[in-house]
Amino acid sequence: MNKQQLVELALQAREKSYAPYSGFTVGAALLTTDGKVYTGANIESASYTPTVCAERVATFTAVHAGERQFAAIAIVGGKTGEPVTAYCPPCGVCRQVLAEFCDSEFPVVLYDGKTIKEYTLGQLLPAVFDKTNLD
Ligand code: THU
Repeated sequence: MNKQQLVELALQAREKSYAPYSGFTVGAALLTTDGKVYTGANIESASYTPTVCAERVATFTAVHAGERQFAAIAIVGGKTGEPVTAYCPPCGVCRQVLAEFCDSEFPVVLYDGKTIKEYTLGQLLPAVFDKTNLD
C-alpha cells in the first residue's frame, strides 16, 4: 500500500461523510503496520458538539477492531459535492488522539487534489502530552 493508494481510500471514505451542517466532507484512511486499512468520514450532529472527525472515526474503528500499531494516515477534505482542492490538516483533537497510538515519526499524508504533502505527527503536535507523562 503506497501513499497514493492510501489517499485514494481516503477519497472513497469521504463519500460516506454525513456533514449537513458544515457542508465540509472529510475522509481518512489509517494504515496498520501489518497492511490493513481502516477508514472514516466526519459525522455531524444537529447539536454540533457531538460531531466526530473522519480521523477519529477511522482511529476508533481500528482500535475497536483490535489494532494499535499504525503506519500512516491519509486525510482529504473539501466542500460537499466538490472535488478536493486544498489540504485538510487534522484538527488538534485528532492530533492528540493519533498521538495516543502513534509516535512522533508517524506520517500524516495530505492531498490537495494534485500533490501529496506529508508531515510527521511530531511536526503537527510538538511537545505532546501523552501517556509517558503519566508514568
Ligand atoms: N473535520 C474533520 O473531519 N477532520 C478534520 O481534520 C477537520 C474537520 C470535520 C469536522 C466537521 O464535520 C467539518 O469537518 C467542518 O469542521
